[in-house]
Amino acid sequence: MTSDSNPTPSQLSFPQRVQGLLGRISRRIDPRHKMLRAESHAYDAARSIETAGIVPLDGLSIDEGRRDSGFIYVPTGPRIFTAFRRALPDDLSRYTFIDLGSGKGRTLILAAEAGFDHAIGVEFASELTAVANRNLRAYDGPADTGRITCVAADAGAYTLPPGPSVIYLHNPFAEDVMERVLANVRSSLDADPREIWLCYLQLRNEDPGDETRNIELVEESGLFRPSPVPRGGIRDRVILSPFDLRAYVAGPAT
Ligand SMILES: C[S@@+](CC[C@H](N)C(=O)[O-])C[C@H]1O[C@@H](n2cnc3c(N)ncnc32)[C@H](O)[C@@H]1O
Repeated sequence: MTSDSNPTPSQLSFPQRVQGLLGRISRRIDPRHKMLRAESHAYDAARSIETAGIVPLDGLSIDEGRRDSGFIYVPTGPRIFTAFRRALPDDLSRYTFIDLGSGKGRTLILAAEAGFDHAIGVEFASELTAVANRNLRAYDGPADTGRITCVAADAGAYTLPPGPSVIYLHNPFAEDVMERVLANVRSSLDADPREIWLCYLQLRNEDPGDETRNIELVEESGLFRPSPVPRGGIRDRVILSPFDLRAYVAGPAT
């Protein structure tokens, strides 16, 4: 699939739409997904925030970026974030966490709780950015939300901040945006060589409309080398088995 050929929902064939529907139904009843949804709601309830649930992009206000290249809002489960945490350096206090396609800000709060110096979310749907900002005000938990920034923008146009960072991507957009993100990473690293991590989360069986070559693009870019994501104990391995978690690092890993 080339960057120009990512199908919009209306361009999917009938069998692809049926496949997508069956995938969504099976995720509704799959005990692993049920467990993750329960953890998601419990996480929110414990912090007085609202990040759980799925939000389609239809009807949301998107001023910058291509709506057709973006995928629906689905938050990252706390258990998944913890699995990525195991792939990253022990001391995160030197690093900025950057979620490209940050939605309602779930990962930004997880990142602040994990000890990142700063967390930045870039989200192109205004309503989701508004919910993220509301969550930061409502948040009742141990992290300092003053270290979190929500940017309303197209991720493909975002310039990385200086210093070591972790870029987080939860299957947010199609290849055309990913190519621009990687070009921005390349020019940022050329101007200022430094340690940059990239974490990518996707389903092993994404719906046909959300399947991309993004992982291949990361690997073909030559910017990053792969780094293992330890899955933890047997319980984690079972619950996280529907997911594909990848970590990469550029520059001198510590
Ligand atoms: C699967 S959700 C991930 C949400 C969040 N990162 C998380 O894991 O909890 C993908 C998000 O990317 C956003 N998105 C898609 N394309 C975008 C773009 N070009 N620029 C900024 N945000 C985008 C969507 O609106 C959606 O909120």
